[in-house]
Amino acid sequence: MGIRSFIFAERSDLHQQANKIFSADWPEFIFHDPVADQYMGRVREFFEDMSLLLVDGDDQIVAGGWGVPVRWDGTADKLPGGYDDALRQAVELHENGGRPDTLVIAAAQVRRDLQGQGLAAQMLRRLADAGEQAGLTRVIAPVRPTLKARYPLTPMGRFMTWTRPDGAPLDPWLRTHQRMGAHMLCPAERSMVMTGSVADWENWAGMAFPDSGSYVVPGALALVVIDQVHDLGELIEPNVWVQHR
Ligand SMILES: CC(C)(COP(=O)(O)OP(=O)(O)OC[C@H]1O[C@@H](n2cnc3c(N)ncnc32)[C@H](O)[C@@H]1OP(=O)(O)O)[C@@H](O)C(=O)NCCC(=O)NCCS
Repeated sequence: MGIRSFIFAERSDLHQQANKIFSADWPEFIFHDPVADQYMGRVREFFEDMSLLLVDGDDQIVAGGWGVPVRWDGTADKLPGGYDDALRQAVELHENGGRPDTLVIAAAQVRRDLQGQGLAAQMLRRLADAGEQAGLTRVIAPVRPTLKARYPLTPMGRFMTWTRPDGAPLDPWLRTHQRMGAHMLCPAERSMVMTGSVADWENWAGMAFPDSGSYVVPGALALVVIDQVHDLGELIEPNVWVQHR
């Protein structure tokens, strides 16, 4: 039997399996984004039709992904600031009774042992279809390029232009989007902001931050800025806005 897709909320029997799969592959700090924390409960409640699981014939999850609906006029100027801002805009639009027209794909994840087989493209397509059914004609995504963590010193505006000899993006996740016909719009300089105390950051990163200053942290797309005086650590992560439909 082939791959089937389900609305996440309708398969509570798979939630334990999903938790295990979807907590893997991420650095700990990614779970400490206060803006996302503030809106995530309402995102799950309001937009459950846009959170999908791909499941094989044996009811094993192979991939998951979710998005939120926003209103966007199609111009780069009016794009949401990034991931955090898209969640905020989607929730506020919904609460104010506004009409969305654009799906923002917020995350997609493929089970680790099945990566590199094109499942992400299937996931993105199913999400875009779910958006279309909900009347969302445009599809955009603040993409978190998987290779960017190896180049935390490079501005995203440069990184996104890097190509392989064959002309395809150097970054594998950007390549997947481009192969599907998506095009890059611009960097989302402040897509996610992760904050915590210095002790929090030492815990999340598994390394010490003895001085104030900027640090390279494994898995982070930019530098983590530590302020010992105010006992604060902050990571402002850039993403890349891409447009599908
Ligand atoms: C990013 C992700 C969704 C891509 O899914 P996927 O199904 O593996 O995507 P594809 O099969 O289209 O592979 C894309 C490219 O990455 C390469 N690739 C995939 N997994 C790889 C791995 N583990 N190591 C090295 N390269 C890999 C593929 O070979 C392919 O390269 P190609 O263009 O030369 O063919 C998946 O890797 C993932 O879930 N990562 C963890 C979560 C994440 O970072 N999500 C994105 C942010 S929301």
